[in-house]
Amino acid sequence: MYNDKVMDHFFNPRNVGEMENPDGVGQVGNPICGDVMRVQIRVKDNRIEDVKFKTFGCGAAIATSSMVTELVKGLTLDEAMEVSNKTVAEALGGLPPQKMHCSNLAADALHEAIKDYRSKAAAAR
Ligand code: FES
Repeated sequence: MYNDKVMDHFFNPRNVGEMENPDGVGQVGNPICGDVMRVQIRVKDNRIEDVKFKTFGCGAAIATSSMVTELVKGLTLDEAMEVSNKTVAEALGGLPPQKMHCSNLAADALHEAIKDYRSKAAAAR
């Protein structure tokens, strides 16, 4: 039911783990199934220099988390905010219809991490 790209990102997830002292952290839960994803970002010169994730969820959630980290590394914060759940699902070549809700976590957690970074940066000014 999953295509090869989804399976690859599930079995070999990119950028999984945690970083020390991240510049921004975003955590979201999926109200449909209760799964949780956390994204941490390191920001340099307004770009995402590094990104890590931990996902307590299904295979589709792990694959979309992995894909979103690959998509946004090196992007400016504004560019990364433009990456949507749909972008992530498309980059994976699509998900089975009943698993589309699983792609909701990926971009949402990233956007929360960027907002967290921005609010901390604004408070430090
Ligand atoms: Fe929960 Fe997929 S079943 S994110």
